[in-house]
Amino acid sequence: MSVDDGVIGKLIEHFSLHDKDCQKYQHEIFTEMRKSCPVAHSVEHGGYYALSRYRDVYDAAHKPELFSSFPVTIPPFGNPTPMIPIEADPPMHRKYRTLVGAQFSPKSVEALEPYMREMVRGIVDGLVGKSEADLAKEVAVALPLRAILELYLGVPEKDWEMLKNEFIYMLQPDPDATDEENQERSMQAGLNCTMYFAEMLEERRTQGYGSDLISHLDQAELEGERLTDDEIFGFCLVLVPAGFDTTASVLSRLLLMFAEKPEVRDQLEQVIDDPGKLDLAIEELIRFMPPQPGVARNVTEACEFAGQELAEGDRLLLLWPSANRDPEEFPNPDELVLDRQPNRHLGFGSGIHRCLGSHLARLELKILLQEFLHRVPRYRVAPGKEAVWHTGNTWGVKTVPVVFEQWETA
Ligand code: HEM
Repeated sequence: MSVDDGVIGKLIEHFSLHDKDCQKYQHEIFTEMRKSCPVAHSVEHGGYYALSRYRDVYDAAHKPELFSSFPVTIPPFGNPTPMIPIEADPPMHRKYRTLVGAQFSPKSVEALEPYMREMVRGIVDGLVGKSEADLAKEVAVALPLRAILELYLGVPEKDWEMLKNEFIYMLQPDPDATDEENQERSMQAGLNCTMYFAEMLEERRTQGYGSDLISHLDQAELEGERLTDDEIFGFCLVLVPAGFDTTASVLSRLLLMFAEKPEVRDQLEQVIDDPGKLDLAIEELIRFMPPQPGVARNVTEACEFAGQELAEGDRLLLLWPSANRDPEEFPNPDELVLDRQPNRHLGFGSGIHRCLGSHLARLELKILLQEFLHRVPRYRVAPGKEAVWHTGNTWGVKTVPVVFEQWETA
């Protein structure tokens, strides 16, 4: 895709994760930013700086004292207290993270494999024999949503759709609405979810605790003190959306890619039964199309960073997808190289806020690829329909309408 330099310059000046053109021309924008304005200034959302080079994004992620994580989005959601642990700063961050670390450790996640495989088989069974489907809704969102709500939080199935819709209001703001309108919408959605979790908490307290995370958090102690209700809700407001929308966005992009670039499917089919090769391929997919386009940081004291004078209160955006395509770190960064090594990508972030759910996300991707590619025939985007992308705090595809070739009969 070729686009005028003047257009790219304007998009940089008005860069926003909510903007459809910024998403569409991301690689042209990021290439130009890395080359000529690695600490680019955007006038949108009250003004902020965007970091695009690998080294700068990495360094900023490793300076949590200087660059606070509250609020973690540009523009902010508007929540008065930090979401936990993503908006918590040291020293509280480490304490909070310790409370949930074990549940997301490689060992705990590995133990979920049989349940996850059953879930994925059920999802693929639901497609069998169909002539068309929306792979975003029926696969990409369905799996991670169910994994976090059922396996971790014990939310009953009747409430999954409602919670999904509320969280999508928060994470995928309307690109045509004003910041104020979007903030109002996300605050309302946050409130609705908080009320839902408050009821769940009450139910646990009166009817007995289970093995779910809410039960665990309500009984946990931090330096001899129980968590407040607000802290428990703060955890839930991060774990649910972080748990489904990121993985859903990477899966939806991948499932669309199989329709548009069947050669990628061919390459993946070669490695799905080789665990070592599949692990490398999954890391490369996350490098190549990280679903979280960027997170924000707040400057806590005046400083110079990457040649730019920053004042206290200035805002920074760390652009993971740009860092992941930086030729200084990755040879042939625009090529998908499934056995890329080394691959120190920043798709899961870096530093103290590095993704808590990375092992869970990897497991979901691994099992989905294995089950889906073994059983689902080739497909293409349904004639007369098109895939619809979304912008916001994740970049993914909200509709992947496809028609299948012939299903194999058993
Ligand atoms: C492919 C899927 C995923 C990607 C690409 C991804 C990406 C990220 C990134 C880039 C960060 C760093 C944020 C920052 O520096 O401020 C992060 C943090 C986080 N992620 Fe993920 N994520 C994924 C899946 C998940 C899943 C399945 C969960 C499950 C609960 C999860 C939970 C979290 C949490 C709780 C944090 C905050 C950690 C902290 O502040 O200490 N993520 N994720």
